[in-house]
Amino acid sequence: MNLQKNDQEVAKLIAGEEMRQKEGLVMIASENYVSPAVREAVGSVLENKYAEGYPGKRYYTGNYWVDQVEQVAQSRAKKLFRVPYVNVQPYSGSPANLEIFGALLRPCGATEGQAPEIVLSQELSHGGHLSMGQEASITGRFYQAKFYHLTADGEVNWEELYQLARKFKPKIIWSGGTGYTKIFQWEKYSKIAQEVGAYFVADVSHIAGLIVGGAHPSPVPFAHVVMTTTHKTLRGPRGAMIMVTNRGLKKDPDLGTKIDKSVFPGHQGGPHMNEIAGIAVALREAQGKPFAKYAKQIVKNSKALSLALVDYGFTLIGGVSENHMVWIDLRNKDIEGWHAHVTLEAVGIYGNKQTIPNDSQSPFYPSGYRLGTAAVTSRGMKEKEMKGVAGFIDEGVEIAREITADLTDIGRADREKDQEQRKIFKDRLKRNKEILALRKKVISFSRKWPVP
Ligand SMILES: Cc1ncc(COP(=O)(O)O)c(C=O)c1O
Repeated sequence: MNLQKNDQEVAKLIAGEEMRQKEGLVMIASENYVSPAVREAVGSVLENKYAEGYPGKRYYTGNYWVDQVEQVAQSRAKKLFRVPYVNVQPYSGSPANLEIFGALLRPCGATEGQAPEIVLSQELSHGGHLSMGQEASITGRFYQAKFYHLTADGEVNWEELYQLARKFKPKIIWSGGTGYTKIFQWEKYSKIAQEVGAYFVADVSHIAGLIVGGAHPSPVPFAHVVMTTTHKTLRGPRGAMIMVTNRGLKKDPDLGTKIDKSVFPGHQGGPHMNEIAGIAVALREAQGKPFAKYAKQIVKNSKALSLALVDYGFTLIGGVSENHMVWIDLRNKDIEGWHAHVTLEAVGIYGNKQTIPNDSQSPFYPSGYRLGTAAVTSRGMKEKEMKGVAGFIDEGVEIAREITADLTDIGRADREKDQEQRKIFKDRLKRNKEILALRKKVISFSRKWPVP
């Protein structure tokens, strides 16, 4: 109400976004709908408080309440993930990974004459994430990383990972990324890390909700450090947590203190206490049976969506999904991930273009497309609805194929012609009657599923 009165411009934009989230199918694998309780905590007066430091050791006064908020978040995280140590202050996943680097590695060139310390993580174009040492990220400028790949069928190339580990003796072996549709084999990472004396850091950002909901195994018995964002399948607000396991403390009893120092004052200033309160609320929600049911349903939905897409002739990287993510290789449909991305967005299905292992296309116009089932599961959709969703996706892709068939310069070397024809494709989409009809169907389907 206040926003509507004080700033109609912003209020209108938020209302538009609210409508988009209701009338469309949010299928970006990293997105979800938080509960109204989480939103209340995030929008609370905690927004006003500066609290640099940690509970009982702050730099400002007035921390009686916020100290308890942070302690509640910590104790819930420890209980839920079964870890002895957690830091709940990272602003998000990318800073959290940088903070792990800072805690465990010496930056390149920090000490003259010493060889750089290396990390081993999943290659970006094979589903890795920027924040684990990729060149385009500051983590790749301050630290040195080598990358392992996925096989064509979406599994970690274990032999390559093993050989790279033996050759480079990395300080960290990192698991996790944004493209992986199987159940992580924690023991394999752990064994290799142990053999070469590396820390095993598990980035479980995508699957944290599946782990605490009992749908996936936990890396905690195997990893030294576990990092997760709080806003994907875990269904909390924007933020991240860095956890140290018993195994981690055994390897280095000071690991928790090193992480704390790296977060603050190493990389951050005042923690976002409102987000930390939201994390605490989300962690409480994640303790209950309904959450476990939701987590298992995410996987069932992903499987059902995969099977239905395969029935429509789609090829999936990794085959039928075992988590929340469906990774489509569009090469047999003669379109790029970009075509699917813009076409499905036009009908209200929100996924994203994604490179596939050994993609011959550029990252901007890759051959793959990625979908996730967490957000639609939060709306109550089940296997039956996933079949319907697969039908919408197939319809959209078929329309894209038809209207791009004569645009043969798309994807060719002549950049000018390529861009020209992409524009023609988009213009055709806007005027296409089948697209408008499909959009109507998607809207009326989506409206039946209330958002939390
Ligand atoms: C595996 C993984 N790690 C880290 C991040 C970074 O998180 P954020 O976007 O919160 O910085 C992401 C985000 O997609 C991710 O998927």
